[in-house]
Amino acid sequence: MTALARQKADDIAVAGEFVFTWHDFSCVAAMLYDLSGIHLVEAKASLVYSRLAKRLRERQIKDFSSYLAMVADPQSVEERSAFLSALTTNVTRFYREPHHFEHLAEVKMDQLARTARAGGRVRLWSAGCSAGHEPYSIAMTVLEALPEAARLDVKILASDIDPVIVNRAATGVYSQGDVEPIPPTILRKHVRRQGDGFEISSDVKALVSFRVLNLLGDWPMKNRFDIIFCRNVAIYFDAPTQDRLFQRFSDALNDGGHLYIGHSERAEARGLIPDSLTAYRREARHG
Ligand SMILES: C[S@@+](CC[C@H](N)C(=O)[O-])C[C@H]1O[C@@H](n2cnc3c(N)ncnc32)[C@H](O)[C@@H]1O
Repeated sequence: MTALARQKADDIAVAGEFVFTWHDFSCVAAMLYDLSGIHLVEAKASLVYSRLAKRLRERQIKDFSSYLAMVADPQSVEERSAFLSALTTNVTRFYREPHHFEHLAEVKMDQLARTARAGGRVRLWSAGCSAGHEPYSIAMTVLEALPEAARLDVKILASDIDPVIVNRAATGVYSQGDVEPIPPTILRKHVRRQGDGFEISSDVKALVSFRVLNLLGDWPMKNRFDIIFCRNVAIYFDAPTQDRLFQRFSDALNDGGHLYIGHSERAEARGLIPDSLTAYRREARHG
């Protein structure tokens, strides 16, 4: 480390109740990268500080080095998941980037419904599902074309690295503001009032299985997918991590299957052919 870099490491990154130096920021960034592949830029220092300072207060920890030692301890599973939960961005919406749901309904569902009705397997994956808006939007799109989907071999996997958000997603309970983007006819069919909020109906929930899964780790799923949604997730990874992930998605898709990605993302991988707006088709394998 140069003298200049050493000086910067000791400098205060964010002034506040707790001392937070650039060295602390680098430790947070390195730990988050190791755990999730998320690449933190220095411009996020204030956000990181405010999210983690809350955790220090809750746990009555006096400084960042003690807190980071706790997160690094292999025994502290709970604190590691709180750390991840504090630093992941979970912004999502029902029918976000609606062109993907239109593509699914108009281009894909006829074939998928035929496959399912003929006794075939249909698999969809919401990878980085956050609070569940995306997989439930997928399930409602599937049910519009195939109302008997739950009695056929049709399944939607919904996965996220953040266990807190996965638990919340599985409850399927949302606020009035959350459910507003759901088209009224679909809302009437598939969403019930629940106290002050709204609950996704059991026929929609029946199609979706939630699971905590780090996209950079092993994928235990044995079968390939017909559709993968991985939107606004890879944007937080560096370029080599994105390339590896998109190649794995290409390998995990059935021939002719589709990958949908976020509006500011770009996928380049063997076997993936750009098809329509941020949608890619898996080309046929030979032999
Ligand atoms: C901004 S949300 C996107 C939600 C949804 N796909 C959408 O577009 O509305 C990003 C999600 O990716 C998850 N995530 C980040 N890194 C991950 C990883 N390595 N493995 C799995 N999920 C990850 C976060 O926990 C977060 O819930």
